[in-house]
Amino acid sequence: MAITKVGMCGLGQMGSGIAEVVAKAGVTVIGYDVEDQFVQKGLGRINKSLSKAVEKGKLDESTKGEVLGRITGTTNLNDLADCDLIIEAIVENLEPKIELYKKLDGIVKKEAIFASNTSSLSIIEMGATTNRPDQFCGLHFFNPVPVMKLVEVIKTVATSDATFETARQFGEKVGKVVVSCADSPGFVVNRLLVPYLLDAIRALEAGVATKEDIDNGMKLGCGHPMGPLELTDFIGLDTIYYIGEILFAEFKQHHYASPPLLKSMVKAGYLGRKAGRGFYDYSK
Ligand code: 3HC
Repeated sequence: MAITKVGMCGLGQMGSGIAEVVAKAGVTVIGYDVEDQFVQKGLGRINKSLSKAVEKGKLDESTKGEVLGRITGTTNLNDLADCDLIIEAIVENLEPKIELYKKLDGIVKKEAIFASNTSSLSIIEMGATTNRPDQFCGLHFFNPVPVMKLVEVIKTVATSDATFETARQFGEKVGKVVVSCADSPGFVVNRLLVPYLLDAIRALEAGVATKEDIDNGMKLGCGHPMGPLELTDFIGLDTIYYIGEILFAEFKQHHYASPPLLKSMVKAGYLGRKAGRGFYDYSK
């Protein structure tokens, strides 16, 4: 099936990034969020990102205008009725996701595909609450979406081959390299990344080295663009804590368990860059 119109549910950091790369690939996008202030914030984020690309000479003004012209915003789910693909990137919590999918199932045309950008929740648990589990898959993008080259395409036990193939081709169309994954918690990247980040926090907690030395160790010793504590601040301490809890609940293995330091920092509101404070201070 040709994907010519995408409904992007949730216009936060991830959703606006996904909407941007989809529109850049020539596909019409309608971005949905629950309140107009979130829609406007998401559209503003896309505009800013495209303007930065123009400033850097990576995009010309007229192309920017064309990309923006392909994106509209709405707070009305009914406006998504004729979309070929719905990508959902709302709050990382099963209950509101299922509630949204049940509504969408009654609104969006029968042949449309639903894809969740969840980082660790079970895709089939969402898909099974709709009348189209065979047309349900995962499309997991990485932050910042315009920069990171990967998308994980997740096939559940119920996803049809045709749905998976359409999703895979769509991932390539929006300029990403596709990794195919089974519907297993954390898929490929977070299954490996999250225990590494948790171990870095454990090393800090145990006094093995300072935060700067832990980060420099991995940046300079292994060529990572960010050290693990910087990266945890970038992703959000709450997000890492939450994904760790999901992985631990599933696998019951120590390396997925959150260290007490992470829990304390989350409780204190030191959530990383977005909060102005995490392992590092971003208040300036
Ligand atoms: N949107 C668009 N472009 C952006 C951007 C954004 N939000 N942030 C950075 N960029 C671009 C810059 O414009 C710059 O482009 P240029 O090379 O053409 O000039 C390029 O990216 C590099 O940016 P900077 O020079 O400002 O800074 P850095 O060199 O430090 O790179 C970074 C920033 C790309 C974020 C880099 O540090 C990096 O790759 N960090 C690791 C990010 C990562 O691991 N992400 C995955 C997180 S896990 C995840 O998302 C899964 C989830 O489920 C938890």
